[in-house]
Amino acid sequence: MRPLTCLFTSVQLRAVHPDLNFLASVNFLTLQPLTPPLLPAVVDLDRRCLGGLWTLDGYQRELDSPSSDLLVLINLASPTIPIGLGCLWAIAEEAHITLLAVDPNYRRQGLGQLMLYALLLSAWQRKLEWATLEVRISNQAAIQLYEKFGFERVGERRRYYQDTGENALILWRKGLQRPEFLTDLQQWQQALAAQLAKTGWSLSQLSHPNWHPSHLVNSTPIPLT
Ligand SMILES: CC(C)(COP(=O)(O)OP(=O)(O)OC[C@H]1O[C@@H](n2cnc3c(N)ncnc32)[C@H](O)[C@@H]1OP(=O)(O)O)[C@@H](O)C(=O)NCCC(=O)NCCS
Repeated sequence: MRPLTCLFTSVQLRAVHPDLNFLASVNFLTLQPLTPPLLPAVVDLDRRCLGGLWTLDGYQRELDSPSSDLLVLINLASPTIPIGLGCLWAIAEEAHITLLAVDPNYRRQGLGQLMLYALLLSAWQRKLEWATLEVRISNQAAIQLYEKFGFERVGERRRYYQDTGENALILWRKGLQRPEFLTDLQQWQQALAAQLAKTGWSLSQLSHPNWHPSHLVNSTPIPLT
């Protein structure tokens, strides 16, 4: 994914929002592909959120893979420490969501939804047909999040997780290239824009070829390319 330059700066915001109190209450976020300088911080986030799923070498391999979209969410107040990460692998016509995590200090603010929305948008832009993932059967927070985005339960993998012997639930999200999915994307972006505004976040930079922050903050349609 090509990085875009910052499209929505605080200077521009001041122009439309002369009330400086507004700026003081807003935290700026960027969503961008993982870059090498962030690798150690991402490994640390993985350890805290996912118990150390991938090593630094594992993340490094993702950087080099054209079939992988690995996104990190950054609070511009601490730009060297990602607060969220999400990854998908494009395999044939499927988007395999391999990672989704938000720093425990930043949960329940809509950031998990933002990451999942971004991954599904990427899957749609890659022209993939389905999204799928495995999740611990006890992970109600994640299951509820995925179900909000139309994932359905299609089965279980018995004793999938070696640490606890827990089963994995297999979830599928079908119809990514159906016309209705575009409507879903637009509804999610509107809901997300409202939730992020409520929790005091402003998405100031998106690093995806077809994204512009206005897609979230102004609810303008996603460009069809
Ligand atoms: C799952 C996870 C990514 C959610 O991140 P988040 O930023 O808190 O998610 P959001 O604030 O966007 O919440 C989205 C929805 O998820 C569900 N949800 C999130 N946390 C929840 C919780 N603790 N209990 C119940 N539902 C929860 C809710 O439906 C919520 O919507 P609501 O706030 O309108 O009720 C986060 O809890 C996490 O990183 N968990 C550890 C890693 C993990 O389990 N990843 C999934 C592996 S498959």
